Amino acid sequence: MKLVLFLIGIGLTLGGYIYPEQIHLSWTEEISQVKVTWVTFLDLPPQAAYRPILCGNVPSPSNFTNIKGETKKFRESKIGYKYQYIHTAVFGNLLPTCWYEYKVGNFGVWSKTFMFSGRTPDTAETFETVNDPYTLVIFGDWGTGPIGQYTKHLLGEETLTRDYLGILHMGDIAYNMEDENGRVGDTYLRMIEPIAATYPYMTAPGNHDSYGNFTHYKNRFSMPNNGVNEGTGYFYSFNLGPAHFIMYNTNSYFKDYRKAEAEVQTQWLINDLAEANKQRDIRPWIIVLAHHPLYCSQDWFEEGSQEDCGEQPAVLKPILEDLFYSNSVDLAMQAHVHNYERDAAIYKNQTIPSQYDGQNIHINPNAPIYITSGNAGNYLEHNDPASTTPQPWARFLSNDYGYGRLTVYNNTHLYWEQFSATALTEIDYVWIVKDQPRYKPSLIN
Ligand SMILES: [Fe+2]
Repeated sequence: MKLVLFLIGIGLTLGGYIYPEQIHLSWTEEISQVKVTWVTFLDLPPQAAYRPILCGNVPSPSNFTNIKGETKKFRESKIGYKYQYIHTAVFGNLLPTCWYEYKVGNFGVWSKTFMFSGRTPDTAETFETVNDPYTLVIFGDWGTGPIGQYTKHLLGEETLTRDYLGILHMGDIAYNMEDENGRVGDTYLRMIEPIAATYPYMTAPGNHDSYGNFTHYKNRFSMPNNGVNEGTGYFYSFNLGPAHFIMYNTNSYFKDYRKAEAEVQTQWLINDLAEANKQRDIRPWIIVLAHHPLYCSQDWFEEGSQEDCGEQPAVLKPILEDLFYSNSVDLAMQAHVHNYERDAAIYKNQTIPSQYDGQNIHINPNAPIYITSGNAGNYLEHNDPASTTPQPWARFLSNDYGYGRLTVYNNTHLYWEQFSATALTEIDYVWIVKDQPRYKPSLIN
């Protein structure tokens, strides 16, 4: 009996080291690809397998295609030498009308199966392949603590019933991934696996992700390369139907020793926005996302607000605001402040009137609309209080926990909604409607 228990114990221990875990997906720099990333704690050869199961509305059973993966050894501990093995594999030649089933494994030990959509970022050539409306989940500042559980439960439930296309996390991931010798990062990636193993989980870095020159961020997440980001995942862009998305790294602008990195990013932003504007007739929407806000309206007497909504925006605005405005960016998504604030179209601290402005609609806006959605559930016991003295351009504020959904309907209609993960209901929404690909900025001095 003792021997049996001993063998079971050995098996369980080994299973914990070789069973694939922390499985999550991302889009790559190529079209028709999805990358899967997972972890084991022993170095065993990785493999993955996938097959289409539904194309259009037609079941498409076929045999699994086996593919090899790659492995990197990652030291996750601050102290000592605790390693994990991070594996990646790329599912290629995907058809945008198909859903796929997949599993990952090491040395014959397979995960359970998950599904993902073959609809991936597109190019001008593939733009028309599928052009249906789609919805992305967008938020920032999400951890494993008590208040992060609201979002975990709701988003986990929704993953089973809704048809999202992807998840965009605007930094501050897990609070902090390196803590407890990396166990916090492991716990977080296990927590999001049911969501992130189904929907590509695209990230931008926050200040809480900066330990060791963002080593946990860079190693645990596999974001698209773009020729100049050196595989860091700090900044990249992708096209989805009528919208161009840009993820970038605000952290680069706050430290002198990051100046060179910041200049590379800014030049890339200039080029990327110029390229995106060349395709504005087929992709009228440009949406930028990053961690720190350019605009937010916390009360000045709240601890930290002078930095979050004053000093840091004062650093970012001279670099980014004219760039976004002159390139007719439609929507600037932000996080970092642990609450929710939807603002009007703003330029140089002034509300810029749209052709028509209602409380929940802008028709033909003439400047970027700024939204802060940093309330998914940070490491504290509560969110930051919503401002009691909001700026004139603020349209809706809340300190509830939750996340946003952005639905890109077509060339003329975007729909944003903020969802409460405690009340399980939408608390705010806005339509952004336009009949011209871009607005014509008239610079204010
Ligand atoms: Fe932050």
